[in-house]
Amino acid sequence: MSKKTLWGHPIGLYILFFTELWERFSYYGMRAILVLYLTAKNEEFNPNPGFGWDNTSALQLYGWYTMLVYAMGVPGGLLADRLIGQKKSVMLGGVLIIIGHALLVMNGVWEFYSGLFFIILGVGALKPNISSMVGGLYRQGDAKRDSAFTIFYVGINIGAFSAPLIVGYVGEVINWNYGFGLAGIGMAVGQIVFIFGQKYLKNVGDFIPHKVDHATKQKVKLTSIEKDRIIVLLLSFLIVIVFWMAYEQAGGLMNLFAKEKINRIFLSFEVPASWFQSLHAFYVILIGVPMAWFWVKWSKTGWESSSLFKMGLGTIITGFGFMMLAAAAMETMESPDGLASVHWLLSAYLLHVVGELCISPVALSFITKMAPAKYVSFMMGAYFFAIALGNKLAGLIGEAAQNAGELAIFWGIFGFCVGFGLLLILFVKKLKKLTHGADDVNEEQAIVEPE
Ligand code: PHE
Repeated sequence: MSKKTLWGHPIGLYILFFTELWERFSYYGMRAILVLYLTAKNEEFNPNPGFGWDNTSALQLYGWYTMLVYAMGVPGGLLADRLIGQKKSVMLGGVLIIIGHALLVMNGVWEFYSGLFFIILGVGALKPNISSMVGGLYRQGDAKRDSAFTIFYVGINIGAFSAPLIVGYVGEVINWNYGFGLAGIGMAVGQIVFIFGQKYLKNVGDFIPHKVDHATKQKVKLTSIEKDRIIVLLLSFLIVIVFWMAYEQAGGLMNLFAKEKINRIFLSFEVPASWFQSLHAFYVILIGVPMAWFWVKWSKTGWESSSLFKMGLGTIITGFGFMMLAAAAMETMESPDGLASVHWLLSAYLLHVVGELCISPVALSFITKMAPAKYVSFMMGAYFFAIALGNKLAGLIGEAAQNAGELAIFWGIFGFCVGFGLLLILFVKKLKKLTHGADDVNEEQAIVEPE
């Protein structure tokens, strides 16, 4: 591993940062125009024709697509652990994503489906493994690991924020296929960064063969510690499902709520409801680094600052975001125009992002600390599967809201998140025992010998 550092972190982190920034640019850019493309009219006089599908079919395909990209993290993780290592999986994933977009550019039905297929396989091979590689840059006990994941997460969101604006514009206003092409070019830039940055990623993400030799067999104790850590990881995935189930209301229920029930007039200009979709990424970029800094300071006070505690707290905070939405739903019932003030929505999104930053980068980091080295990629893939489930549940809840009404659903999600978060915090001491110290900062272990 190269020992050169920049702003206190190994240069390899910035290579992974830019690779993932561009991968997310391509993913979110393509995703932003997917449904619009499918539903665009397919008539001769239309200068930018699509497939002419109805909304329901387009949303169904979208739901399957977004679920499958993350569910594919499981085979993607296995590929890395069992066959080729994380680094080569990232490389392969990048190539598959580029091929996928090239197929989308070709503008045919067969090309379209196979393009999506390639992207699904590519993201599955790339995204969980590049996340594991971030962890691979740090030694056990290194306090910098958590902040590295936050930096990485900010990169993700720079890509996620800019892509819908740029690819969305090119695709919608100029030509859908150019939009897909631009998303593909984004991934190609990421791939180039990754290839040229290899010298900073030596000894990270290489394949570790599974040796079942005599020595390993004798380390039974070790094995029970590893088992405990896997148990605590799997338990933490429950909270992850709850969190994403709540958070991913953004694209569905909250999106519709913004469109129908929020007063979006700003200085006599009506802000499009879809713009609120960029708020998550915008807030992450704004508060990601200050929050990482806050946690470092907080941990120095000696107060509880374990990953599990942060995840519990994050879920509670996300829950409070839904309290804001419930308040907005109540306001719509009283206001003469049936609309609620936009500040409810802005503060709900902010609380969701504070929750996200307590959970998402923390969980990524937690997995790289907790999983035995030979299973890191697989556990990362399993985490992605939990996210896929959370996303699917989010959709189901959104559908349920059509009958139950928004107010009941917002209160329901609030109660569920707060209840689950409190439960986790209540048991945090017990659960922490199962980590056997792997979540603790230990500067001595982390010290890197001077060059
Ligand atoms: N915005 C995050 C990203 O695109 C959401 C996410 C987190 C997805 C973790 C998968 C895993 O990376």
